[in-house]
Amino acid sequence: MTTTLTIIQPDDWHIHLRDGAALATTVPHAATSFNRVICMPNLTPPVKTAAQAISYRERIMQALADSDIDKARKAAFDPRMVLYLTDHTTASDIDDAVATGIISAVKLYPAGATTNSADGVTDILARAEVFDAMQKHGLPLLVHGEITRESIDIFDREKRFLDEVLQKIISTFAELRIVMEHITTADAADFCLAQGNHIAATITPQHLLFNRNHLLVGGVKPHYYCLPILKRAVHQKRLLEVATSGNPKFFLGTDSAPHATSTKEAACGCAGCYTATHALPLYAAAFESVDALDKLENFASVYGAKFYGLPTNTSTITLIKKPQTIAASYPYLETQTLTPLLAGETIAWQVAQ
Ligand code: DOR
Ligand code: ZN
Repeated sequence: MTTTLTIIQPDDWHIHLRDGAALATTVPHAATSFNRVICMPNLTPPVKTAAQAISYRERIMQALADSDIDKARKAAFDPRMVLYLTDHTTASDIDDAVATGIISAVKLYPAGATTNSADGVTDILARAEVFDAMQKHGLPLLVHGEITRESIDIFDREKRFLDEVLQKIISTFAELRIVMEHITTADAADFCLAQGNHIAATITPQHLLFNRNHLLVGGVKPHYYCLPILKRAVHQKRLLEVATSGNPKFFLGTDSAPHATSTKEAACGCAGCYTATHALPLYAAAFESVDALDKLENFASVYGAKFYGLPTNTSTITLIKKPQTIAASYPYLETQTLTPLLAGETIAWQVAQ
């Protein structure tokens, strides 16, 4: 007997679609599974103003129109934009963002934390007027939670961020809605649990399925490299526990992050796992591993919408427990390729056609 699982159509509360020619690959991939997608603003240059967010969304919608995915998926796809917080963002930038109706959040990248974060914030607590404006509007702050000082061990960067920065932001701006993006440690999961319901967290499929051994044992595997980096197995286990606990603070955010194959399989390889095409089967495998498939729908399709104050989707998607082999690569940026996470490997689940 085939196992099938039909759930409310999910949303992806954290994805990188990039820009320009990349959109021809990334947009149809995302739109095949997800309705609302929160589009990360770390372009070069970053999306810093309402006007830039509006024109970025138009380019995404054009790529959607030009793609050959089916009409119903095209109609359902709703990219929601994010403003990139810099040392120069003002309260009136926040007012302008809210007035657009298409900007759902503001992203905090500590300067130097990850891909295209050079314009990130150097003195976070100095952004008080911005956080006040966000509180006033109820606009969430999405946080890449890593301390970037060179002296701090890469495996400790998330925990140090909680202690040194996030706790201060939360105590100073008591009503600021915050999403701790792509959490990777038991410390972050427990920190989130200790806060009020205005603080939530997204979790990626790779942090539920893998730990640092997958990245490093038997040779360095660049397609498992993302930031924050995979941690010890005890952290993976705790993330699986909270993701499958039925607590609405934890919801789906793939952090699918495309990089051309040649830039990942390199002496200084880029950070990011590409999962937009098979994120749902990956999450299904993770939830099944702890016998919690019944918790997948809320995690993937209900809790995120609730946090963002949006209705749940009305369509459904069906997953089938039937092996699929992940593509070796996809065409990318006209002349390049994009290697997905688990390229060429077989996974147990697929999305019904
Ligand atoms: O692995 C990552 N890749 N982490 C991030 O925070 C950024 C992302 C990217 O943009 O490639
Ligand atoms: Zn990201």
